[in-house]
Amino acid sequence: MSGIKVTVCRDSEEVAKAASGIIARLIRENPGAVLGLATGSTPEPTYAELVRMHQEEGLSFAGVTTFNLDEYLGLPGDHPQSYRYFMQKKLFDHIDICPWNTHVPNGMARNIDLECQSFELKISSVGGVDLWLLGIGANGHIAFNEPGSAINSPTRVVDLSSNTIESNSRFFRDPSEVPRRALTAGIETIRSTRRVLLLATGPSKAAAVAEAVKGRYSCRCPASLLQKHPKCTFIIDQEAAAELQSTGR
Ligand code: GLP
Repeated sequence: MSGIKVTVCRDSEEVAKAASGIIARLIRENPGAVLGLATGSTPEPTYAELVRMHQEEGLSFAGVTTFNLDEYLGLPGDHPQSYRYFMQKKLFDHIDICPWNTHVPNGMARNIDLECQSFELKISSVGGVDLWLLGIGANGHIAFNEPGSAINSPTRVVDLSSNTIESNSRFFRDPSEVPRRALTAGIETIRSTRRVLLLATGPSKAAAVAEAVKGRYSCRCPASLLQKHPKCTFIIDQEAAAELQSTGR
């Protein structure tokens, strides 16, 4: 049986308020919190709300450490489509976090295997991640763990599926510019976190959300592997919840 708790909000603005509220509470209770973060359009309003809380309500990130889920292989951090660049522009540049406490896998690392191992080691060295914020792909992927990813997979290099390349091509001038490979935290890396918050908004996520929450526990839908996590909440809007609601869940 699925252990995923689902909170349905009216719209993406409410999703952002709920998610940022949980993150802010965690930081106020534990100023040295370790956060796992995601990119994509879904968490953008949550980051905007956290920036607002920093600027208007004094929420401080000075003691916070962050780890990002993934990065395109071959894109430097100053490339506008790299995930490092996204995080700087959407969050890090506007809050008081120490730059050296922000960890995004380095897509330009000369030794990629070493980069993956050191990412895992850095997480262990700070005692693990307290809360990981996730999005979900339309095919059920989490981070860049595409369907078929093993439940015990660690941080590693992966080939992106054609579905993901196509859906992420909206951010690039030309679909041929979308990198074909990426570094990603593994399913095991994500499952070992103490708390998971997955956000989903819009109708394109409805099928993946329903499959993750009510479908079989299977690596065919990587997000369904969160069903056995002891503390996993999906915060979703009504559109993303459409296929849960249609069956009365
Ligand atoms: C990318 C990222 C994922 C993200 C997904 C959904 O593939 N690697 O971490 O969850 O896209 O993105 P969006 O929120 O833009 O729909």
